[in-house]
Amino acid sequence: MAWTPWDWMERRAEQQPDWPDPLALETATKELSTFPPLVYPNEIAALKDALAQVSKGKAFVLQAGDCAESFHDHSAASVRRRLKVILQMAVVLTYSSGVPVVKVGRIAGQYAKPRSSPMEKYKGVDLPSFRGHIIHDDAFDPEARRPDPTRLLEAYNISASTLNLLRSLTRGGFADLSQVHNWNQEFVATSSEGERYDTIASEITRALKFMAACGIDLADEAALGQVDFWTSHEALLLHYESALTHKVANTELYYDLSAHMIWIGERTRQVDSAHVRYASGVSNPVGCKVSPKISIDELLELCAILDPKKQPGRLTLISRMGRSQIEESLPDLVEAVRNEGYPVIWSCDPMHGNTFVSDTGYKTRKFEDVLEEIRLFFEVHKSIGTWAGGVHIELTGDDVTECLGGSEEVLLTELDSNYNTICDPRLNARQSLDLAYRVAELLIG
Ligand code: PEP
Ligand code: CO
Repeated sequence: MAWTPWDWMERRAEQQPDWPDPLALETATKELSTFPPLVYPNEIAALKDALAQVSKGKAFVLQAGDCAESFHDHSAASVRRRLKVILQMAVVLTYSSGVPVVKVGRIAGQYAKPRSSPMEKYKGVDLPSFRGHIIHDDAFDPEARRPDPTRLLEAYNISASTLNLLRSLTRGGFADLSQVHNWNQEFVATSSEGERYDTIASEITRALKFMAACGIDLADEAALGQVDFWTSHEALLLHYESALTHKVANTELYYDLSAHMIWIGERTRQVDSAHVRYASGVSNPVGCKVSPKISIDELLELCAILDPKKQPGRLTLISRMGRSQIEESLPDLVEAVRNEGYPVIWSCDPMHGNTFVSDTGYKTRKFEDVLEEIRLFFEVHKSIGTWAGGVHIELTGDDVTECLGGSEEVLLTELDSNYNTICDPRLNARQSLDLAYRVAELLIG
């Protein structure tokens, strides 16, 4: 059956809200489909080429950003801080991996959330679980939790303004390598692990001096002053994705023009699901989360559906096993996919398998668990002889206290001092940089 952008509607779509007014949803969706695209097919094709290099072991991918972006926090300062920390991490990883780092944000569209439970209880009251600002508000109030389809249009508008700022920041000097390195030196100078990180920071300084001495004008070199920065989000709310899906004239290719890359979540990746059907037909790079619950057969079937032509750069398998499960669950999956010849990228999400609720009632994660899952991910790939292609991190540029640990340790008793996430706990800026330096140590060996 030839694919069309809306034929997922014949399948079971998990994790969709109960829209109270289907007509209002149709009106919003129709209007959305007349809006200009947020990204362009040629950009998406360029990302696919960059990811093809990752799949060949010649580059690394850093995918990072909010668990759930907020409609209440899309200021320039917030976008800048998120971009800044990702660029800082990328410099450290580029140096330590010795290959280009493809930078993909969970940004400019990450507004829809899958939930394990359809209802949420607070102080004895039950309400529908929060599913992201593209659907309703997070306030614990029955009116706020009513799904409102005009939010699809708001999500588009906020994504457009976020993307507009990202485009100018990554072209206009903000991303300049010398500046990003200066930020990293500031971080190292003020970190309690400063001495430990200083080795890498000083080596990068020397590399920059070496380039300057060779006559490369750092300020004038486009490759050093500008960066390619790509957007991604979970393609969960299929009405939004389909409304922004367009066919390129004179080709048979459809693209989801809401972001460069999309992914399918752990809760919607069933082989016969609406989400897998939708993703199978768009030409964007597609990610798919993989937990220990998946079987080898299921994973191979997903590869066959999502990447039937075995195109490098098309499919990223994002393993989110948990520190305690990865060694047992990942190797067989990696080997099976390799033996069938799928040129997938394996990326490590060390966040979602390591979440727990503290005694004090906060959903949190330990820095050491996150780091250890990454370490084991590298070890598994090394022992099989496959390329550990990237990491997928939930972070923010703000000074939040949502995850435990890090060199400026966040303690259990401190979680309540700045716990701001509207969904999962994120690494704060310092923890994110700690992570980049610690991963760099693993890469340098
Ligand atoms: C997420 O990435 O925020 C998420 C919900 O992940 P998963 O689908 O792996 O649970
Ligand atoms: Co999350």
